[in-house]
Amino acid sequence: MYLVGAKAHSSYKNTRMSKKNIPLVVGNWKMNPQTLEEAYTPFSRVRKGVSPRAGAVEVALCPPALYLVPLTAVKAKGMSWGAQDAFWKSEGAYTGEISPAMLKAAGCKYVIVGHSERKRYLGETHEVIRQKLIAVLEEGLTPILCVGEEEEEHDRVGQILRQQLTHILKDIPKKRIKKLVVAYEPVWALSTSEEGKQSLPSDALSAILFIKKVLIDVLGEKYASHVRLLYGGSVEGSNAEGYLEHGGVEGLLVGGASLDAQEFIKIVKSLS
Ligand code: PGA
Repeated sequence: MYLVGAKAHSSYKNTRMSKKNIPLVVGNWKMNPQTLEEAYTPFSRVRKGVSPRAGAVEVALCPPALYLVPLTAVKAKGMSWGAQDAFWKSEGAYTGEISPAMLKAAGCKYVIVGHSERKRYLGETHEVIRQKLIAVLEEGLTPILCVGEEEEEHDRVGQILRQQLTHILKDIPKKRIKKLVVAYEPVWALSTSEEGKQSLPSDALSAILFIKKVLIDVLGEKYASHVRLLYGGSVEGSNAEGYLEHGGVEGLLVGGASLDAQEFIKIVKSLS
């Protein structure tokens, strides 16, 4: 296994303390809700709850792409917008796709890239994810790259994370690295997974430290230190703070709980 000792833990803590990023909480609405009208309700509630915490925590919502234009038109203090995916070209004959340029024009700052559900249901490969990541970075948007292992891969999680990161980060434009966010999402710990298990902050920390090491190997220390790390997988109001306190991350990627405005605000409050 890849578990790391207390020495690595304390040196990671020191690295974290030297950074000045405020926590980032990203809400991934996935393919919900079914109408724009229904989307306004959680959005308005979240907007109200986040506004007094602007400056202490950054909240980014990633609704279905169809809702982005009307939602981003509403002013929301302390909030940014993100998309759940993007194509790797900026325009052309690519039926059904949405380019990073379009997302930027629609008011997005972030784009989730390589979510495990896209790998599982749409067969996205590491090479496709790599091309999407480059396109998003080239457009000046901030990619939230998802990495993580399936349940059956858990006993070789280090190897899996290294394979994913090494392939996906190959030849990415270094000058844009400052914008990179990497989210560790163990697939078996997602709230929708059949396994229904939870990755504790201490488990997450081991993986996060390993990811940091691989980032240094792949990008070099100078660039790796700019990468923001998030945790995702069954995050809710009651456990959110633990991941920041003991999981070695600077933010959270929240799926199911992000559609429940009250629960999502609880998460935001616990970090601010
Ligand atoms: P979850 O999803 O919070 O519902 O586990 C996280 C994600 O899929 O990004």
